[in-house]
Amino acid sequence: MITSIKLRKVNSSGLAGDIGAIMMLADFYGIEMSSALKWSVEQRLLELSKARMMVWSGESVMVLANDLHGMPLGMILYTTTDDKTIRRIDALFVIEKFRGKGISTKLLQAIKEDKDFHTYATPSSVGWYEKNGFRVLRNHPEGTVEMTTAGGEPNYEYTVRVPIPSEMDNKFIEKMKKFEEERAKLGKV
Ligand SMILES: CC(C)(COP(=O)(O)OP(=O)(O)OC[C@H]1O[C@@H](n2cnc3c(N)ncnc32)[C@H](O)[C@@H]1OP(=O)(O)O)[C@@H](O)C(=O)NCCC(=O)NCCS
Repeated sequence: MITSIKLRKVNSSGLAGDIGAIMMLADFYGIEMSSALKWSVEQRLLELSKARMMVWSGESVMVLANDLHGMPLGMILYTTTDDKTIRRIDALFVIEKFRGKGISTKLLQAIKEDKDFHTYATPSSVGWYEKNGFRVLRNHPEGTVEMTTAGGEPNYEYTVRVPIPSEMDNKFIEKMKKFEEERAKLGKV
């Protein structure tokens, strides 16, 4: 167990300049989830933008685990719902080198209060969640495993709905996809 870890709640209004928070989101959505769930470029950009917007709006809360020098080693991200007893965990991530040292356990404890949790886990993290009181509800075709700590079936709506991409977002995503394809052809990815 690492004791020299400091937890810091991300200040949503300063998100754009918060390098630690942006780095964690990019690592989680860009690298970890893309490879675990075989996400397309569109999906990666979508999820990353959605998470940023939700943290910025204050609907989602992000807590970073930093070392004593302020270097981020991990993060947890949850979204409040209209069911006051349940928090949905959207992201939980620790940089590979620092895994197995109790950082996630500390992050989960920090956001627990008196709430239950609901999440869509990656297959490789199911064992960790089970160790922390979650049970499997069901497997989903896109590769996630739905889990909860609640006794029954979680049944909630979001207080404010997660943004849906506009036509303009989709055009941008299409352009980014072409850009990445071009780079791949040149051997730059
Ligand atoms: C899953 C993950 C978040 C765990 O973080 P972590 O900080 O390494 O976990 P901890 O150190 O708090 O784990 C503590 C305990 O759980 C065990 N554990 C860690 N990962 C485990 C796993 N995948 N399966 C089973 N047990 C696991 C540890 O061995 C340790 O056990 P011990 O207390 O008996 O020694 C981390 O491996 C990770 O970032 N994975 C990639 C991203 C991901 O899949 N996130 C979840 C999807 S949303």
